[in-house]
Amino acid sequence: MKGNRTFTMIKPDGVKKGHIGSILKIICDNGFKIISMKMTRLSIFEAKLFYKIHEKREFYKELINYITSGPVVVISLQKENAVEDFRSLIGSTDPKLARPGSIRNLFAESISENVIHGSDSDENAINEINFHFPNKELF
Ligand code: RTP
Ligand code: MG
Repeated sequence: MKGNRTFTMIKPDGVKKGHIGSILKIICDNGFKIISMKMTRLSIFEAKLFYKIHEKREFYKELINYITSGPVVVISLQKENAVEDFRSLIGSTDPKLARPGSIRNLFAESISENVIHGSDSDENAINEINFHFPNKELF
């Protein structure tokens, strides 16, 4: 059965360019309930753990520099079929390919700096929520 939880992060470019409010509105208007949320800044250690799956990729160093370059907003969300619906809401990794009206289509500028993260499986969603909100979920 598909889970009802996912995790998202408004990345440093989204925060710097002032898109927090617009992105949160789109998320809420599309039926996602915010369970926990905080603004933080990832340390290099945290970023490397979070994106460990990409450590062999050629863009890894650039990704760690980018994701630690400024504050981010981390959010756990609830909705039926959360992971799949949220990936659809944010659009493809490359904003040039992202569905018109998706968050990356509206706000992102490049494949490396693409404004927002969304979990890619139920298992990763739970891991990412526990990583950012260890024993501290508010709902
Ligand atoms: P995310 O994990 O952040 O939600 O993004 P995603 O699933 O759509 O894409 P993924 O393949 O997991 O890549 C993670 C992040 O790495 C950066 N990236 N840069 N320069 C490049 O070719 C490249 N490819 C990926 C992006 O920030 C991407 O979201
Ligand atoms: Mg990913």
